Amino acid sequence: ENEIANQLPLRGKKILITAGPTYEAIDPVRFIGNHSSGKMGYEIADAAANLGAKVTLVSGPSNVQLKNASVKLIQVTSAQEMYEATHKEYETIDIAILSAAVADYRPKSVASQKIKKHTGLLTLELEKTQDILASLGEKKAHQFLVGFALETNNEIENAKSKLKKKNLDLIVLNSLNDKGAGFKGDTNKVTLIDKDNKEYPFSVKPKAEVAKDILQHIIKQLDA
Ligand code: CTP
Ligand code: CA
Repeated sequence: ENEIANQLPLRGKKILITAGPTYEAIDPVRFIGNHSSGKMGYEIADAAANLGAKVTLVSGPSNVQLKNASVKLIQVTSAQEMYEATHKEYETIDIAILSAAVADYRPKSVASQKIKKHTGLLTLELEKTQDILASLGEKKAHQFLVGFALETNNEIENAKSKLKKKNLDLIVLNSLNDKGAGFKGDTNKVTLIDKDNKEYPFSVKPKAEVAKDILQHIIKQLDA
């Protein structure tokens, strides 16, 4: 019995994960997006399911394939759709890990017809999207809430301020300055920062291994 519990330390836990980019429509044929592949979030979803968790993955557009068939995949396109899908699941889950590269801005209005080209400049008016992670932080009750931070400068400082501002239990800092890190490739280099501002730096490794490091840390913190 104990042995099985050790092998499946997340058995009985419900985990919600977000992954990938979001696409914000400009007109019927164009959007604002970003280079997130979704890999990091899909690896976390697979790894969590392998550790016995019941996993729901809310994903923006991505070509990545899930390996563990037990993961429930909810596909969304825009930040607004991701917000709605995530909040729908939140109440009943134990752990939320938000790795998606959500667009911070979207066109204020979506043109109903394809925008034709003219001479001179085209100006797009953008409005803020809702911060999904911050909204879950505000609603947090029993949940263990994990966010990501993508930074290019003042990395640790910025990540710590996001951790606090969004009421997180853990933040995964992705520094784009590190070689082998980032949201496009197959490897990543992260630093975990917990609620007490303690830093746990990891080396560059495949995203599947990074996923396991993150989950092991969460398991330890839940047991503590
Ligand atoms: N996030 C979110 N909803 C948004 C924007 C971000 O849920 N509309 C989440 C991301 O999934 C990530 C965390 O917030 O877990 C941090 O994202 P990041 O882009 O690093 O930080 P922002 O708070 O958006 O601030 P900025 O981009 O200005 O650094
Ligand atoms: Ca952002």
